[in-house]
This record gives sequence, structure tokens and C-alpha cells, in this order.
Amino acid sequence: MNVDQIFEELSAKLGRWMPESEIRKKAELAFRINQLKKERNAVILGHNYMEPALFHSIPDFTGDSLELARLAAQTDKDIIVFCGVKFMAETAKILNPQKTVLLPALNAGCSLAESITAEDVRNLKRKFPDVPVVTYVNTYADVKAESDVCCTSGNAAKVVESLKNDTIIFLPDEYLARNVARQTGKHIIFPSKSKGWPEAPTDKLLDYQFIGWHGRCEVHELFTVGDVEDAREKYPGVVVMAHPECSPEVTQAADFAGSTSAMIKFVQENKAPSYLLLTEGSMADNIAGLYPEKNILRIKGHRCPHMQQITLEDTLLALQKNQFVIDVEESVRLRAKRAVQRMIEIV
Ligand code: 13P
Ligand code: SF4
Repeated sequence: MNVDQIFEELSAKLGRWMPESEIRKKAELAFRINQLKKERNAVILGHNYMEPALFHSIPDFTGDSLELARLAAQTDKDIIVFCGVKFMAETAKILNPQKTVLLPALNAGCSLAESITAEDVRNLKRKFPDVPVVTYVNTYADVKAESDVCCTSGNAAKVVESLKNDTIIFLPDEYLARNVARQTGKHIIFPSKSKGWPEAPTDKLLDYQFIGWHGRCEVHELFTVGDVEDAREKYPGVVVMAHPECSPEVTQAADFAGSTSAMIKFVQENKAPSYLLLTEGSMADNIAGLYPEKNILRIKGHRCPHMQQITLEDTLLALQKNQFVIDVEESVRLRAKRAVQRMIEIV
């Protein structure tokens, strides 16, 4: 596609709210990135939270964490440019180590990944020996390496059910753990900073069933039941959708909870005229671009400061300068791969 064609496509999706001069600038950048992508035999994977002009122009594939991990594992290109955050780029490297994996901004982190260390997991395993550890993919490679199996928001319940264990250590997202515990009918306990871990004699473990951690997504923890109630009052008939990183009170008040791609699919397949999205702000913009006939409400512009780091400008630089290369130490990678691979095989 030449610049004019990219401009036309972007205008159709974003023209209602983005000035023409801005769209032209983005189209020029996207054109240069697409050229370089071909020259360097690269694939661009874009998470659903990418800003709209990027989301609708340069990725060869867009998707949620699970879909992008699968695509990263399968690609035959030399370079994977990950337009997402660091733990996602690391997962790509864990699964496909022969490829060069580039993350356009090194400071694209995640509050959940920052909330737990490999040493924390080792301590838990010492405290609760023989209890399997499930970790959300929103963790760094060394934490995955200490885990038995990973999960994403799209498959967490299936992963838990596949284990057939009465007690599971589920890390590090407190809200995802609470949501999955409710879905799978389990009790949950958490460490207490002041009192330390509750004593858990082996014969009582069955009562605990889920052992959680106090990690939170700094974006999804902002949504409240009040947001849902306000929207229902102002927009009768609105379909409320929440990511499972929201609190269980919020997901229970919503009509649907699911991964980012599950939410997109839900909007695509449903006939309701209006939807409220309780998730990262750009995704509502991206869905609005995809389905202009639907009214996509975003009551608060909560943006992920990490996802926001990834821009068209930095993606161009990433391909020009081969930056920033994501590497995972081989012994860590091999152990982390077991947990990620096991997840991919379950679903
Ligand atoms: P998904 O796996 O649903 O895309 O979620 C990733 C994420 O970081 C949500 O905040
Ligand atoms: Fe992490 Fe939350 Fe950002 Fe997702 S939205 S990358 S969970 S901080």
C-alpha cells in the first residue's frame, strides 16, 4: 500500500475524531515502517491496546496476549517486532529463541509483572510444597521459570481446571485470581503484609484451594461498580464489558468479562447498539474504528502508561536501529518455556 492508500484506510477508521493532518503524518510513518518491515523480513505483532493509528496500520497481526504468543511461536520471519509490553516480547523470545525480538520502547513494563519476583515465588513454594504454581503471563521470564504452568485472561479457568488439584498457587493478579476462583468455585487466601502467611498445615490445605498474591493492574483497578451503575442509568440498554483484571465486584456488575480479543469478538457478534468497555482506553477507540455503526462508550480515558510508550515513531526507530533486542538467559528461558508451552497445549 502506498501512503495515500494507508491515509484512506486510516481516515475511514479514525477520520471522525482525528484531524486530517495528523492522519497524514501517521500514514507516512506507517508507510516507512511497512517498507522496512519487508526489507528486514520482519513481522509486527500488535496488542489490542496499541494506539489506534498504529493498531490500524502496521501490525501483520493484532490480538490478545494468548493469540500473539501463539503467532510469535509460529512465525518464520527473521525479526519479531512486538508492539506491546516487555513481558509479551519476552514470551515471544521464550517460545521462538532463534528470532530477533524487538520491543520499540524498553520502559514498556506492567504493574502486574513488577509486583512479584522469582524469589517471592520460591518462598511460596517453600511454604506450600507440592502445590502447583499457575502464573499469569503478565510476569517476567524468571517468574515464569519458577512456575508449573502459565495462563492468560483468555484461558485462566481452563488452565486451573486442567490441573485437577485441590490447592493452587495463582500469581500475581489478585483480581484475576478472585475472578477465576469464583468461576471455578474455589476459596482464596492471600498473604498479609503485617501478619505474614497464615499457617497452613498440610491437612488444612484443602480449605484454602487458591493461594493468591496482591498484584494489581494499575489501569483495571481504577474501574468501579459506580462506573457501571452510572452508565446503565445514562445509557439504558448499554452492554457493559469488563476485563478480568477488574475487581470481582466490577466483573459481576458487568454483562460480559473476557480477554481483550474476547471483548472485540463480543462486540462484533452482538446486535446491541451501545457498549461500555471497562479496559484500557485505546481499545475502545480501536473497536470504534472497526465498528463505526456501534456506539462505543468509554466513561474514563484510563490509559496504560506502558502500552502508551509504543508509538509509530519508536517502531520505525526499532527497525532502523535494531532496538531494543529482548533476550532471555538460556537456563531461565528453558524453564519458562515449559510453563508457557504447557499453557499453549492445554487450550
Ligand atoms: P489480554 O491477554 O486480555 O490481551 O490482556 C493483556 C493485558 O495486559 C490486559 O491488561
Ligand atoms: Fe499491565 Fe495493566 Fe498495562 Fe495490561 S493494562 S500491560 S496489566 S499495567
